[in-house]
Amino acid sequence: MLGSGVAGLTAALRARELGLRVLVVTKGAVADGNTRWAQGGVAVVLDGERDEGDTVAAHAADTVTAGAGLCDDDAVGTIIGAGPAAVARLRGRGAEFDAGASGLARTREGGHSAFRVIHAGGDATGAEVERALVAAAGEHGIPVLERHLAVDALRTPAGAVAGVTVLDPAGVPGVLRAPAVLLATGGFGQLYQATSNPEIATGDGLALALRAGALVADIEFVQFHPTVLYTPGARGRCPLVTEAVRGEGAVLLDGAGERVMTGVHPLGDLAPRDVVSAAITRRMAQAPGGIDDHVFLDATGISGFARRFPTVHAACLAAGTDPLREPIPVTPAAHFACGGVVTGTDGRTGVTGLYAAGEVARTGLHGANRLASNSLLEGLVVGERAAEAVAADLAAGVLARPRHGLLPEATCVPVAERDALQRVMSRYAGIGRDADGLAAAGSVLDLSTVDCPLWTHEAVEGAALTMLAQALLAAAARRTESRGCHVRTDTPERDDVTWRRSQLIRLSASGQ
Ligand code: SIN
Repeated sequence: MLGSGVAGLTAALRARELGLRVLVVTKGAVADGNTRWAQGGVAVVLDGERDEGDTVAAHAADTVTAGAGLCDDDAVGTIIGAGPAAVARLRGRGAEFDAGASGLARTREGGHSAFRVIHAGGDATGAEVERALVAAAGEHGIPVLERHLAVDALRTPAGAVAGVTVLDPAGVPGVLRAPAVLLATGGFGQLYQATSNPEIATGDGLALALRAGALVADIEFVQFHPTVLYTPGARGRCPLVTEAVRGEGAVLLDGAGERVMTGVHPLGDLAPRDVVSAAITRRMAQAPGGIDDHVFLDATGISGFARRFPTVHAACLAAGTDPLREPIPVTPAAHFACGGVVTGTDGRTGVTGLYAAGEVARTGLHGANRLASNSLLEGLVVGERAAEAVAADLAAGVLARPRHGLLPEATCVPVAERDALQRVMSRYAGIGRDADGLAAAGSVLDLSTVDCPLWTHEAVEGAALTMLAQALLAAAARRTESRGCHVRTDTPERDDVTWRRSQLIRLSASGQ
């Protein structure tokens, strides 16, 4: 398993239950990934604990609506339908969710028609999920190789994946051979200057998959979370202000104190995330009250805010805002890659021996815009199913036998200077793109790119970000419409005749 978030550890635990030998390889410390930063919760309709009238079918319908015409109905049905059992297994592995008046407490987030998002520690759901899975992996004696960065897939002459090359913490290359490699490496929020993602979210797994011959889709759909905490000139990981704050009644106000979401969408402040982020971006461009880089989230009416949202409360206080007394300054930031390596709901990619689960994968659940709190759920369900697929493929004898051999030569790949890359992506490939800007970004990127061998951590991360930026810019330029997270100012309408389809990307033999 490459990656130690919700998908990787769930897969590792299931693989161990199935009697497989497992090694988890992770590029930071075991709990350093994106999972632990998730706040809002896990969207799931639990038997006996559901809201009056809520159903799994309603959850699936909300997912499809949020996905703006690009969800795969089968994937949605399978993953949402498997949610209750996956959450039950997670609880069996030790994760504890907040209790409500009867059963588990549930909140609501953007795009959900019911209160069905379960949470832990108020707004520390990801931290609790990660804690429980790390502890369970320890109890089951699953080995974790920390601070090792996977570089490239080892491939047999027939093209099957049979292991990976890695760099150890000192940058010394090595080889890990295995008949199956599961990517659970997360997303690529670090393409942008401001993101809710940690430093390690550089898309290395996605780049590895592309170089291994896998198909990638929907890469142009980068979801911007509507509300991260605004601080002037913020760069890198910005603290999230969970959508559940709006679920509990907070409202968005512009710099002049006017409601942002009035008249924008029937669900108002709880519209799907793409709609809210785009509305905030449009409002900021009008600079009401002279403020053009943030809006405000007024949560002063929420009683017990500090208890319900301890993480957000602490982050606000640290930034000098008291959310009990004043509106929180917020702004959209890059949050989630809706696209990724094309897989089935069992994590199988088109490449023998290569599997993917979690944010790195594109199962078709999210379409053009992920429904809030569906990501932890997807990691739980697909992580489990991917381990079962590996076990089945091993039993069927379809996987390659890892062979001994020498370390392959390092590939030489283009790497753009990180600051320039983040600057152009934020300026031209965020919310509100157009043909000229996307072309300009491509040119700047080309100019700041040099060829490097994949021999250092910086080069591997830089190469991944560069490859994904180029692929994203090309896909965004081709998609001459606006849909979900892909908002084009020069083609603002959705075009279901031409564009109700995903763009598939595969690296050609020349590496382009
Ligand atoms: C949030 O709590 O707003 C983020 C949850 C998610 O990304 O699904």
